[in-house]
Amino acid sequence: MWVRVLFLIAVFSTWCLGTASRAADSDLAIVHGPYLSDVSESAAIINWNTSREAYTAVEWQVDDGAWRTVMASRDGLVITGTRHSVTLVGLKPGQRISYRIVAKPILYYGSNNVNYGSSVTSTTYAFETLNRARKGFTAYFFNDLHSDIDRLKTLFEQVQLQPGDLVFFNGDMVDHMVDEQVLLRLIDFCAERFAAQFPLYYVRGNHETRGSAAPMVQARFPTFGGKTFYTVEHGGAQFIVLDSGEDKEDSHKEYSGLADFDALRDQIETPWLRQLVTTPTAAPTKFKVAVFHIPIFGGARWHSEQQIAQLWRPLFNQAGLDLEMSGHTHVRTWLPQDYIWRHFPIMIGGTHSFAKLTFDERSINLDVIDISGRLLDHHKVKAKL
Ligand SMILES: [Fe+2]
Repeated sequence: MWVRVLFLIAVFSTWCLGTASRAADSDLAIVHGPYLSDVSESAAIINWNTSREAYTAVEWQVDDGAWRTVMASRDGLVITGTRHSVTLVGLKPGQRISYRIVAKPILYYGSNNVNYGSSVTSTTYAFETLNRARKGFTAYFFNDLHSDIDRLKTLFEQVQLQPGDLVFFNGDMVDHMVDEQVLLRLIDFCAERFAAQFPLYYVRGNHETRGSAAPMVQARFPTFGGKTFYTVEHGGAQFIVLDSGEDKEDSHKEYSGLADFDALRDQIETPWLRQLVTTPTAAPTKFKVAVFHIPIFGGARWHSEQQIAQLWRPLFNQAGLDLEMSGHTHVRTWLPQDYIWRHFPIMIGGTHSFAKLTFDERSINLDVIDISGRLLDHHKVKAKL
C-alpha cells in the first residue's frame, strides 16, 4: 500500500515539476505582424503570428468608443495555433479603427480544461476603412522586387503615407516560394513600416506561384472572398485586381505538371470579370484601374499575355478602363492607349522604382519615382466617365 502511495506522490511531483517547467517556457510573442491584408468600407482582415500555440484575438474600437473583442472561429470553434487572421465586420466608410492584439499561450489543451499562460498585448495601431465617396487619395505600386527587401526598404524611404492611402504589391515581390521564410521577411518589413496601419493589397505574380510553399501567399494575404482576384473601391476608383498566373503554357516543363492557369484565367476569372464590367457599380466610379502582373503587351511574348489580351482586353475596352498597372518585364514602360485595339494606357513598373498614383476628382497623376526620390516619369490620366 505504502509503496503505491509513494509511487503516486512521485508521479504527482514529476507532473507538477513538468507543469512548472512548461509554464516557465510559456513566454509568448506576437510576431510577423499585425498587418492588414484586405480592407473595404465595411470590413478588414488583420493577420499576425504568435511564437507558439495560443488563444488570440483582436480588441478594437471606433474613436473613443467601447473596446470589442473578435477572435477567429470556424464552425463554432475558436481557432488556435500560431498563424492567425481575424476579420472585423460591421465597419463604416472612412472610419478610423484602433486595434491591438491580445494572446495567451496554451500550455495544456485537454478535453475538459485548457491551461493558459500569461497573456500579452500588442501596441495599439489604427487604420482607416475605405470610402468610395472620399475625394482624393494616393495609391503606391511596387512590383518585381524578387525578395530584395533591402531595395524595398530604400524605395519606401521615398514614401510618405497619409490616412486614406493604399499600397499595392503587383507581383513577383518574392522570387519563389520554396519555403515561407522569404515571405515572412517581406511581411516583417511591411508590418513594421506601414501595413499595420495602411491597407496592403497583394497581387500574385508568376514567381509567387513557384514552389511547394506557394499556397502560403494566399494564406498570408487572405482576401474577403478567398480569391486571388478581387476589387478594391475607394475615392471614386475601382481597382480590378486579377491573377495573371504563370507566363508560359501550363504544359511547360518548368511547371512539372503542377500549373492549371489556363483554367483560372479562362473559366474562372473571365466570367467574373465579364459580370463585373457589365454590372453597374453600387457607388459612382470615376476611375477604373486594372491591376495584374503580366501586361497586355500585344507583343505575344508569353502564352498568358496572349490569353489575357484575347479574353480580358475586350472587356476592359467595354468597361471604359482608364489604366492598367502591371509589371513582369523588369523594364519601366509607358504604353499609351491606341484607341483601336487597346483603349487604355499601360504602366509597367520597373524594379528600381515605384509608381505613385494621386487621384483627384477628375484625373490620376501618375509619378514614377526612383530609389533616390528622382521623378523618372509623369503621366496624367483623365477620367473617361
Ligand atoms: Fe513576373
